[in-house]
Amino acid sequence: MRLPSISSLLCLAGLVALPVNAYDDPNIKSIPLRTHSLSPPYLDSDFQSRWFDFGGDTVIRADKYVRLTADRPSQQGWIASRVPLTATNWQIELEFEIHGSGNLHGDGFALWLTKERATQGPVFGSTDKFEGLGIFFDTYKNNRPGVSFPYVMAMMGDGKTTYDQAHDGKANELAGCSARGLRSAPVPTKARLTYFQDKSLSLELQYKSEDSWTECFNLSAEDSNIAIPSVAYLGLSAETGELSDNHDIVSLKAENLYSLNRGNNNKGKTTEDQSKNRGRSAPRPVKEKSSWSWFLLKTVLFFAVIVGGYFGWTVYRTKARSSRF
Ligand SMILES: *[C@@H]1O[C@H](CO)[C@@H](O)[C@H](O)[C@H]1NC(C)=O
Repeated sequence: MRLPSISSLLCLAGLVALPVNAYDDPNIKSIPLRTHSLSPPYLDSDFQSRWFDFGGDTVIRADKYVRLTADRPSQQGWIASRVPLTATNWQIELEFEIHGSGNLHGDGFALWLTKERATQGPVFGSTDKFEGLGIFFDTYKNNRPGVSFPYVMAMMGDGKTTYDQAHDGKANELAGCSARGLRSAPVPTKARLTYFQDKSLSLELQYKSEDSWTECFNLSAEDSNIAIPSVAYLGLSAETGELSDNHDIVSLKAENLYSLNRGNNNKGKTTEDQSKNRGRSAPRPVKEKSSWSWFLLKTVLFFAVIVGGYFGWTVYRTKARSSRF
């Protein structure tokens, strides 16, 4: 009963904006979350942002970026959503640029989905002992033998645990990867974080070539604690110490994900049946129905335009004629 209403909603959304399909799986539809997205000019006419606020050393240049820190020592800056991200399944795509002069750089920036909001502190410019998820883009190696930097890692904070600053978060690491070339990359650098509640949390990076994503990690709820607090704010922060870099956010795009493949149809079946169904590539009736109604709508609109155009033209011709006499 729930699925048809979602698919008709999607049709409606498709009327206003073109249907988006950020996620590769054709059975997954996405709806943009304006409340958690950022793009130029970032600010409205009052130099405010309706959905985000920012502080510390953050500077916004309307045509270019949200600069969390400039390439100067001892900077801290942040930007945070005003409302929590309450979607069950979502994808966040971030475009950023880390660059600076000199030979040594630091310290990096972080993406947050935490209960805390807009609280400055020592962990990449944000508060320690946070509750929720932190993704750290760490550009300076303090002490982590055998690991090449920049290093990207996830930490799930419980509100009590301190970030292992001395060892670049080694004690807290949920998952991570080295990303040599993330700084000053020749292509736009991006990170894409995908969350399916009680299922998976994955991070992909783009920095080697355009439109090519590299998997950083893909965790399943069975093996790791990936439970993000149900009330979590989306934030970004960065910090420089003795060493520095520009940490620029170019855009942030959040989307709510809906699976068209999952319904009440699976009720009563065994888990094995369900996983078999999930793996099936054939589209389910719901999907067909939604594309059918979309087609019907387009056809009706097409004829409406033709009839309207003909009617308008007739009226115009009649008027033109009568004005001649
Ligand atoms: C993560 O792994 C799951 C299960 O193997 C898979 O379905 C999903 O597509 C993967 N996610 C990404 C972004 O690669």
